[in-house]
Amino acid sequence: MQNVELYSKNNNCQKSASRKFYNYFGDLLKAEFKNQEISLIDVGSGCGTILSEVTVGESGLKFAKIFGVDKSEKMVNFASETYGSDLMSFRYMDVIDKIPDDLMSEQFDMVTSFYCLHHVRDLKKAFETINGLLAVNGLFGCVFFTWHTFITAWDALTEKYPVMSNWRNRFTPLFAVDNPDEIIKNNLSESGFEIVKFIDDRNEFYNFSVPENMAKTLDAINPFFTSMSEEEQKQFSKDQMSKIFELQKSESLVEPFRVIYFVARKTKTCC
Ligand SMILES: C[S@@+](CC[C@H](N)C(=O)[O-])C[C@H]1O[C@@H](n2cnc3c(N)ncnc32)[C@H](O)[C@@H]1O
Repeated sequence: MQNVELYSKNNNCQKSASRKFYNYFGDLLKAEFKNQEISLIDVGSGCGTILSEVTVGESGLKFAKIFGVDKSEKMVNFASETYGSDLMSFRYMDVIDKIPDDLMSEQFDMVTSFYCLHHVRDLKKAFETINGLLAVNGLFGCVFFTWHTFITAWDALTEKYPVMSNWRNRFTPLFAVDNPDEIIKNNLSESGFEIVKFIDDRNEFYNFSVPENMAKTLDAINPFFTSMSEEEQKQFSKDQMSKIFELQKSESLVEPFRVIYFVARKTKTCC
């Protein structure tokens, strides 16, 4: 899984996207929930920093209780130790597995999932789980990363780094298609959701300032990075940046990538 130490220090790109989510949809969410204290479950909450700093700290929404769930025990432990409180608790859950009984009986007002579902192969199953967590009329807010040049760069490096040879199997099949927007919309509709607002940003960018920041951000989400020796890690980091710059035909650190943002409403219980 991911490197919790590295990710907890190198998630500014993801943090920027979650801020954009609330810039896009914050007013809509405030109008929906008014002054209600929301029960929230955040799927793929990772180290908990973004949930704590952005969703709780900056969104302007009020919360009654929050669960952060993640399939990485290391992430759950880090988040619990760092951000656990009476309001917010963290626990293990895989979004493609059966929902634990106690969470199933909760029926949450809102589910968020930021920069997580690109790790999931069975998108429909994930949406069905999220449907099962929500009350009817509850809202699902998502930031879904769908493309960046590193994808082609990693493909090109698989020969030199055999440990990465099947790396795509650990990520969404949407990396291989041109129409992730249509696929996401269809899966939402088949899983009992109606789209409230959908933004397909093909010109997303984040200013990494220096190549090292981009490299560390990518290393932190690379599930194979920890299987490499320290020497190999250093070399891979350098090679991936050279390949990205070669593919971009520039050493720009603000090249556009693609991220989909949406809010969808559960209109019916799907399954
Ligand atoms: C890039 S991190 C994003 C974390 C956090 N949402 C954020 O924005 O910082 C993706 C997280 O999704 C989790 N994840 C991946 N697949 C998952 C699954 N099937 N069920 C639950 N969590 C999952 C990973 O363990 C990881 O912590």
